Amino acid sequence: MLERRGIYRRFWDVTAESVSRTCPAECRQQWLEVCEYIKDMDYNLSVGKGLMLIGPVGTMKTTMAVAVLRDLIEREPNQGYFIPMVSLLDQLNEERDSRSHILEDRIRHTRLLVLDDLGAEYDHAWVAAKIDSIVTERYNRMKSTIVTSNLRRDEIRDRYQMRIFDRLKSTNKLITFAGKSLRRPV
Ligand SMILES: Nc1ncnc2c1ncn2[C@@H]1O[C@H](COP(=O)(O)OP(=O)(O)O)[C@@H](O)[C@H]1O
Ligand SMILES: [Mg+2]
Repeated sequence: MLERRGIYRRFWDVTAESVSRTCPAECRQQWLEVCEYIKDMDYNLSVGKGLMLIGPVGTMKTTMAVAVLRDLIEREPNQGYFIPMVSLLDQLNEERDSRSHILEDRIRHTRLLVLDDLGAEYDHAWVAAKIDSIVTERYNRMKSTIVTSNLRRDEIRDRYQMRIFDRLKSTNKLITFAGKSLRRPV
């Protein structure tokens, strides 16, 4: 079920409950803000509100985005989709075969889309145009999108079309993360 929603095995254990239990002090405040979003999820999704989780690598942005998505999937197993920006190019190949057509449809229409690691994708005009078109269409359809990124705000503004930034800013609550990576060497 989680696989079909684009959630990778590494994140199968992530739920709001598990993050609440184990979230380190460094990102407690951010988690409380994400919890506010989850609490009002039905309303947030009905008006197309999303989140922008911005900060350095290893600060639990992806984990928190998955926890939000998971909360929706538990209630609506056919809704929501997670896509790592690095795979966007692979998954939506330019030939538009039927599989990539179905996927693109899902990305445009699903109630909640997570675009994970904006800025990590291959810097290519086709990808940038695709992101622009997905964000714009979802904005117009009032569908919610959660973006995680370790680009700073001004870098997002510079790298993508100004209107992507304006759109995300007007619909998504910005939560910034700071501090050192929680990833530990094995
Ligand atoms: N519930 C948790 N409690 C403690 N540490 C966690 C938890 N979930 C994830 N982590 C640690 O945080 C690291 C980074 O998480 P991730 O969500 O991938 O960060 P980001 O997306 O900000 O780069 C993980 O590799 C893991 O070591
Ligand atoms: Mg991440």
